[in-house]
Amino acid sequence: MSTEKTLILVKPDGVSRQLIGEVIARVENKGYVITALRMMQADRALLERHYEEHKGKPFFEPLVEFMMSGPIVAMVAEGNRVIEGFRSLAGVTDPTVAAPGTIRGDLARDQGTKVVQNIVHGSDSPESAAREIEIFFGK
Ligand code: RTP
Ligand code: MG
Repeated sequence: MSTEKTLILVKPDGVSRQLIGEVIARVENKGYVITALRMMQADRALLERHYEEHKGKPFFEPLVEFMMSGPIVAMVAEGNRVIEGFRSLAGVTDPTVAAPGTIRGDLARDQGTKVVQNIVHGSDSPESAAREIEIFFGK
């Protein structure tokens, strides 16, 4: 049976709102296994690597500033189709329209900030997951 890994981040808004446990509970209750976990203060160099694909977009600088605004929690979750499964648990990017029942739909809303604050990040493909896990946890 093939398994898969994804990188999940609890972003600074999730940490400051004391939602680390809520996010972990949703991941574990769904049946995925958390196999690595660390709390950290991300620096600009790390975030510029992580968000490489968004370089040049208008929200890039506000996104990096937001992600440096406080501690984050990085974790690796494992299970069959966990990449797709966690994206489904997270809901769509914009928390205003994220479906009720999802992390973003239940726990976030538009705060009028320069960049969307939406509690969590989840890798969007096996290639992104491998790249992002290496950034946060090394080889
Ligand atoms: P993530 O990477 O955090 O899991 O979120 P995502 O795939 O749903 O969204 P993505 O397009 O990768 O964007 C990364 C993060 O940048 C912020 N964002 N703000 N127009 C905007 O203001 C805007 N677009 C994106 C969000 O924090 C998003 O999660
Ligand atoms: Mg993304």
